Amino acid sequence: MLTDPSVLTDPTPPNWGSIDLPASWPDDLELNTFPDLRFLLSRVFGARTRVELPEGMPGRDLVPKYMLQEFHNLPNGYYSDSLTRGYVRTFDTIMLGAMTNARDMVANTLKGVDSAIDVGCGGGRVAKAMVEQGIGDIWGLDPSPYLLKQASDEVPKVKFIQGAAENIPFPDQRFGGIGICFLLHEIPPKHASTALKEFHRVLEPGGLISIAEPSPVQMQDSSFSLFRKYGWKGPYFKLLARFVYEPFVEAWHKRDLQKWFEEHGFELIDDNVGMPLRHIVARKL
Ligand SMILES: C[S@@+](CC[C@H](N)C(=O)[O-])C[C@H]1O[C@@H](n2cnc3c(N)ncnc32)[C@H](O)[C@@H]1O
Repeated sequence: MLTDPSVLTDPTPPNWGSIDLPASWPDDLELNTFPDLRFLLSRVFGARTRVELPEGMPGRDLVPKYMLQEFHNLPNGYYSDSLTRGYVRTFDTIMLGAMTNARDMVANTLKGVDSAIDVGCGGGRVAKAMVEQGIGDIWGLDPSPYLLKQASDEVPKVKFIQGAAENIPFPDQRFGGIGICFLLHEIPPKHASTALKEFHRVLEPGGLISIAEPSPVQMQDSSFSLFRKYGWKGPYFKLLARFVYEPFVEAWHKRDLQKWFEEHGFELIDDNVGMPLRHIVARKL
């Protein structure tokens, strides 16, 4: 059943390049001055506060309430131009190149589908990997207009739309594939189940979901055992997982995926738990 009965056609993608997004408080900092730099660092390493969506930001009502937290200790979360630009670049560096593998795995699995959507697309890098796989009709969906603007600059072939996984603004059975990279562990369990219902609705029968998420291994194994198996990268990823603020990650790791997908009308066809990544593939029955 459609979540919103008015969604009978595709949305019109905005021309992100022509939209001037309002500055949020981190955009007003002058990071070449010591007081502002010190203030920013105190916000990265100190107490977190609630994310403020600036007046006039498009799609303020599309941002789920639980996102108004400073995930990954990123000041003002995913809602500033300057910091999300830095975030898109440094995320891949901090993950020691693993994100390129993650996105390639996600896109490879979807090779051959006619249409696909990158949900929680951020800077659009899964969508870019989908373009490289020759998929013709690609969309990206994210609640943050700051990330969508960057994504549309980086991958102009892809159509980027603002919205959340729990309410995908497309008709039923619209896509052959859904790509997801590092999204589901950021969503509270109840909302992740709502999102999975939406994935089922917008997928064609037989359509695939290809998902990359952090591996549970770096959270569960001891530093010593990680060092023995993976060298210094083992304890490094453990430390990283402990430092960054991800309030729903433990709940995600506890989920029984086989049961979860079955209950929502999917067949789990692959669950490859590596380190630092886990790759999951499910097919709509
Ligand atoms: C860790 S980033 C990953 C971004 C991107 N997939 C990548 O590979 O770099 C998580 C992304 O999920 C988005 N996000 C968080 N909650 C969401 C939701 N409920 N629906 C859609 N996107 C969401 C965030 O705005 C952010 O862009």
